[in-house]
Amino acid sequence: MSTKSSVVISNQTGVHKDLESTLKKHLANTYRKPYRPFTGEIFHQLDEIQKTINKPIILDSGCGTGESSQQLAKQNLDTLVIGIDKSEKRLDKLTSHNSVYQKENLILARADVVDIWRMIKESNWNIKKHYLLYPNPWPKKDQLKRRWQGHPIFPEMISLCGQIELRTNWKIYAEEFKFALELVTNKAVLMDTIDVNHFISPFEKKYHESGHTLYRITSESL
Ligand SMILES: C[S@@+](CC[C@H](N)C(=O)[O-])C[C@H]1O[C@@H](n2cnc3c(N)ncnc32)[C@H](O)[C@@H]1O
Repeated sequence: MSTKSSVVISNQTGVHKDLESTLKKHLANTYRKPYRPFTGEIFHQLDEIQKTINKPIILDSGCGTGESSQQLAKQNLDTLVIGIDKSEKRLDKLTSHNSVYQKENLILARADVVDIWRMIKESNWNIKKHYLLYPNPWPKKDQLKRRWQGHPIFPEMISLCGQIELRTNWKIYAEEFKFALELVTNKAVLMDTIDVNHFISPFEKKYHESGHTLYRITSESL
Protein backbone atom coordinates (compact mmCIF):
# COMPACT_ATOMS: atom_id res chain seq x y z
CA MET A 1 0.00 0.00 0.00
CA SER A 2 2.79 2.47 -0.82
CA THR A 3 1.27 4.02 -3.98
CA LYS A 4 -0.09 7.56 -3.75
CA SER A 5 -3.84 7.95 -3.71
CA SER A 6 -5.73 10.63 -5.63
CA VAL A 7 -8.27 12.84 -3.88
CA VAL A 8 -11.91 11.75 -3.98
CA ILE A 9 -13.65 13.12 -7.08
CA SER A 10 -17.42 13.49 -6.89
CA ASN A 11 -20.29 15.03 -8.82
CA GLN A 12 -21.63 16.22 -5.45
CA THR A 13 -20.66 19.64 -4.08
CA GLY A 14 -22.09 19.22 -0.57
CA VAL A 15 -24.36 17.04 1.55
CA HIS A 16 -26.56 14.96 -0.77
CA LYS A 17 -29.93 16.64 -1.33
CA ASP A 18 -31.75 13.35 -0.68
CA LEU A 19 -29.91 12.41 2.52
CA GLU A 20 -32.55 13.81 4.88
CA SER A 21 -35.51 12.14 3.13
CA THR A 22 -33.53 8.89 2.81
CA LEU A 23 -32.75 8.91 6.54
CA LYS A 24 -36.36 9.62 7.47
CA LYS A 25 -37.47 6.69 5.33
CA HIS A 26 -34.90 4.42 6.98
CA LEU A 27 -35.92 5.58 10.45
CA ALA A 28 -39.52 4.67 9.72
CA ASN A 29 -38.73 1.17 8.40
CA THR A 30 -36.63 -1.45 10.18
CA TYR A 31 -34.09 -3.05 7.83
CA ARG A 32 -35.09 -6.66 7.26
CA LYS A 33 -32.80 -8.06 4.59
CA PRO A 34 -32.17 -11.77 5.37
CA TYR A 35 -28.78 -12.61 6.85
CA ARG A 36 -26.13 -14.06 4.57
CA PRO A 37 -25.33 -17.78 4.96
CA PHE A 38 -22.65 -18.56 7.60
CA THR A 39 -22.91 -15.18 9.37
CA GLY A 40 -24.91 -16.80 12.17
CA GLU A 41 -22.11 -19.32 12.77
CA ILE A 42 -19.44 -16.60 12.83
CA PHE A 43 -21.52 -14.45 15.16
CA HIS A 44 -22.08 -17.42 17.46
CA GLN A 45 -18.28 -17.86 17.79
CA LEU A 46 -17.82 -14.14 18.48
CA ASP A 47 -20.61 -14.15 21.02
CA GLU A 48 -19.17 -17.12 22.91
CA ILE A 49 -15.72 -15.45 23.11
CA GLN A 50 -17.10 -12.09 24.22
CA LYS A 51 -19.19 -13.78 26.93
CA THR A 52 -16.09 -15.62 28.21
CA ILE A 53 -13.80 -12.58 28.13
CA ASN A 54 -16.55 -10.36 29.53
CA LYS A 55 -14.95 -6.95 28.93
CA PRO A 56 -16.37 -3.81 27.27
CA ILE A 57 -15.98 -4.08 23.50
CA ILE A 58 -14.33 -1.78 20.97
CA LEU A 59 -15.71 -2.49 17.52
CA ASP A 60 -13.56 -1.75 14.45
CA SER A 61 -15.98 -2.14 11.53
CA GLY A 62 -14.46 -2.49 8.06
CA CYS A 63 -11.08 -3.06 9.71
CA GLY A 64 -9.30 -4.00 6.44
CA THR A 65 -6.11 -5.86 7.32
CA GLY A 66 -6.90 -5.62 11.04
CA GLU A 67 -3.86 -3.48 11.82
CA SER A 68 -6.00 -0.77 13.44
CA SER A 69 -7.72 -3.41 15.59
CA GLN A 70 -4.31 -4.72 16.68
CA GLN A 71 -3.21 -1.25 17.73
CA LEU A 72 -6.46 -0.59 19.56
CA ALA A 73 -6.14 -3.90 21.41
CA LYS A 74 -2.62 -3.02 22.58
CA GLN A 75 -3.74 0.44 23.72
CA ASN A 76 -6.90 -0.78 25.49
CA LEU A 77 -6.01 -3.87 27.48
CA ASP A 78 -9.12 -3.51 29.61
CA THR A 79 -11.35 -4.04 26.55
CA LEU A 80 -11.99 -6.69 23.92
CA VAL A 81 -11.32 -5.31 20.43
CA ILE A 82 -13.31 -6.89 17.61
CA GLY A 83 -12.30 -6.06 14.03
CA ILE A 84 -14.62 -7.17 11.26
CA ASP A 85 -14.14 -7.02 7.52
CA LYS A 86 -15.85 -8.84 4.69
CA SER A 87 -12.72 -9.04 2.55
CA GLU A 88 -10.85 -12.31 2.83
CA LYS A 89 -7.94 -10.83 0.90
CA ARG A 90 -7.43 -7.99 3.38
CA LEU A 91 -7.89 -9.96 6.59
CA ASP A 92 -5.81 -12.91 5.51
CA LYS A 93 -2.63 -11.09 6.44
CA LEU A 94 -3.44 -11.98 10.05
CA THR A 95 -6.14 -14.60 10.00
CA SER A 96 -4.66 -17.05 7.45
CA HIS A 97 -8.00 -18.26 6.03
CA ASN A 98 -9.79 -18.64 9.38
CA SER A 99 -13.11 -16.84 9.65
CA VAL A 100 -12.44 -15.95 13.27
CA TYR A 101 -9.00 -15.28 14.75
CA GLN A 102 -8.33 -14.58 18.41
CA LYS A 103 -5.23 -13.50 20.25
CA GLU A 104 -5.52 -12.17 23.81
CA ASN A 105 -7.94 -9.22 23.75
CA LEU A 106 -8.17 -9.08 19.95
CA ILE A 107 -10.60 -10.86 17.66
CA LEU A 108 -10.70 -10.50 13.89
CA ALA A 109 -13.59 -11.91 11.92
CA ARG A 110 -14.52 -12.13 8.29
CA ALA A 111 -18.17 -11.14 7.94
CA ASP A 112 -20.50 -8.51 6.59
CA VAL A 113 -21.06 -5.89 9.26
CA VAL A 114 -24.56 -5.19 7.97
CA ASP A 115 -25.57 -8.59 9.37
CA ILE A 116 -23.26 -8.60 12.39
CA TRP A 117 -24.51 -5.20 13.62
CA ARG A 118 -28.10 -6.50 13.70
CA MET A 119 -26.99 -9.64 15.57
CA ILE A 120 -25.03 -7.55 18.09
CA LYS A 121 -28.10 -5.40 18.66
CA GLU A 122 -30.25 -8.46 19.33
CA SER A 123 -27.65 -9.82 21.77
CA ASN A 124 -27.18 -6.50 23.51
CA TRP A 125 -23.36 -6.43 23.60
CA ASN A 126 -21.61 -3.91 25.83
CA ILE A 127 -19.90 -1.75 23.19
CA LYS A 128 -17.70 1.01 24.56
CA LYS A 129 -16.64 2.58 21.26
CA HIS A 130 -17.31 1.98 17.58
CA TYR A 131 -14.67 2.90 14.98
CA LEU A 132 -15.44 3.28 11.27
CA LEU A 133 -12.06 4.00 9.75
CA TYR A 134 -11.98 5.19 6.16
CA PRO A 135 -15.11 3.50 4.80
CA ASN A 136 -15.33 3.23 1.03
CA PRO A 137 -16.56 6.69 -0.08
CA TRP A 138 -18.89 5.69 -2.95
CA PRO A 139 -18.61 9.31 -4.17
CA LYS A 140 -21.01 9.34 -7.12
CA LYS A 141 -24.35 11.03 -6.47
CA ASP A 142 -26.26 7.86 -7.27
CA GLN A 143 -24.19 5.87 -4.72
CA LEU A 144 -25.67 7.56 -1.62
CA LYS A 145 -27.26 4.32 -0.39
CA ARG A 146 -23.88 2.58 -0.35
CA ARG A 147 -22.45 5.12 2.13
CA TRP A 148 -23.18 4.22 5.76
CA GLN A 149 -25.27 7.37 6.32
CA GLY A 150 -27.46 6.53 3.32
CA HIS A 151 -27.71 2.81 4.03
CA PRO A 152 -30.90 1.42 5.60
CA ILE A 153 -28.81 -0.08 8.43
CA PHE A 154 -27.71 3.38 9.66
CA PRO A 155 -30.29 3.82 12.47
CA GLU A 156 -29.51 0.38 13.92
CA MET A 157 -25.77 0.86 13.55
CA ILE A 158 -25.72 4.09 15.52
CA SER A 159 -27.90 2.62 18.24
CA LEU A 160 -25.20 0.05 19.09
CA CYS A 161 -23.04 2.45 21.05
CA GLY A 162 -22.90 6.06 22.28
CA GLN A 163 -19.34 6.68 21.15
CA ILE A 164 -18.70 6.54 17.43
CA GLU A 165 -15.59 7.67 15.59
CA LEU A 166 -15.51 7.88 11.81
CA ARG A 167 -12.47 8.93 9.81
CA THR A 168 -12.46 9.75 6.11
CA ASN A 169 -10.43 11.61 3.50
CA TRP A 170 -13.61 12.87 1.77
CA LYS A 171 -14.99 16.03 3.37
CA ILE A 172 -18.52 15.48 2.05
CA TYR A 173 -18.61 12.00 3.62
CA ALA A 174 -17.72 13.53 6.98
CA GLU A 175 -20.30 16.31 6.57
CA GLU A 176 -23.00 13.83 5.63
CA PHE A 177 -22.16 11.49 8.52
CA LYS A 178 -22.32 14.43 10.96
CA PHE A 179 -25.62 15.60 9.44
CA ALA A 180 -27.08 12.10 9.71
CA LEU A 181 -25.92 11.52 13.29
CA GLU A 182 -27.29 14.88 14.40
CA LEU A 183 -30.60 14.32 12.65
CA VAL A 184 -31.12 10.91 14.20
CA THR A 185 -29.82 11.65 17.71
CA ASN A 186 -30.73 15.32 18.03
CA LYS A 187 -27.32 16.01 19.59
CA ALA A 188 -24.38 18.06 18.33
CA VAL A 189 -21.52 16.04 16.85
CA LEU A 190 -17.91 17.18 16.49
CA MET A 191 -16.18 17.36 13.11
CA ASP A 192 -12.47 18.14 13.02
CA THR A 193 -9.36 17.31 11.05
CA ILE A 194 -6.58 15.13 12.34
CA ASP A 195 -2.91 15.77 12.16
CA VAL A 196 -1.41 12.32 12.39
CA ASN A 197 2.08 11.47 13.52
CA HIS A 198 1.10 7.93 14.31
CA PHE A 199 -1.11 6.06 11.83
CA ILE A 200 -4.01 3.98 13.03
CA SER A 201 -4.54 2.10 9.75
CA PRO A 202 -3.00 1.42 6.33
CA PHE A 203 -5.51 3.69 4.57
CA GLU A 204 -4.80 6.50 7.02
CA LYS A 205 -1.10 6.18 6.22
CA LYS A 206 -1.69 6.09 2.49
CA TYR A 207 -4.02 9.10 2.49
CA HIS A 208 -1.74 11.13 4.76
CA GLU A 209 1.29 10.37 2.60
CA SER A 210 -0.72 11.43 -0.43
CA GLY A 211 -1.26 14.84 1.20
CA HIS A 212 -4.99 14.46 1.89
CA THR A 213 -6.81 16.20 4.71
CA LEU A 214 -8.16 13.62 7.16
CA TYR A 215 -11.58 14.34 8.67
CA ARG A 216 -12.90 12.91 11.90
CA ILE A 217 -16.42 12.75 13.27
CA THR A 218 -16.82 11.92 16.93
CA SER A 219 -19.96 11.52 18.94
CA GLU A 220 -19.84 11.14 22.68
CA SER A 221 -22.62 9.43 24.59
CA LEU A 222 -25.44 9.73 22.09
C1 LIG B 1 -11.14 1.76 2.38
S1 LIG B 1 -11.02 0.26 3.27
C2 LIG B 1 -10.45 0.81 4.87
C3 LIG B 1 -9.81 -0.31 5.64
C4 LIG B 1 -9.27 0.07 7.01
N1 LIG B 1 -10.31 0.51 7.92
C5 LIG B 1 -8.19 1.11 6.95
O1 LIG B 1 -8.45 2.25 7.38
O2 LIG B 1 -7.08 0.79 6.48
C6 LIG B 1 -12.72 -0.13 3.59
C7 LIG B 1 -12.92 -1.53 4.13
O3 LIG B 1 -14.29 -1.71 4.47
C8 LIG B 1 -14.62 -3.06 4.19
N2 LIG B 1 -16.08 -3.18 4.07
C9 LIG B 1 -16.89 -2.50 3.23
N3 LIG B 1 -18.17 -2.87 3.41
C10 LIG B 1 -18.17 -3.82 4.38
C11 LIG B 1 -19.18 -4.59 5.00
N4 LIG B 1 -20.47 -4.46 4.64
N5 LIG B 1 -18.83 -5.48 5.95
C12 LIG B 1 -17.53 -5.62 6.32
N6 LIG B 1 -16.52 -4.91 5.77
C13 LIG B 1 -16.83 -4.02 4.81
C14 LIG B 1 -13.87 -3.38 2.91
O4 LIG B 1 -13.69 -4.77 2.71
C15 LIG B 1 -12.56 -2.65 3.15
O5 LIG B 1 -11.58 -3.48 3.73
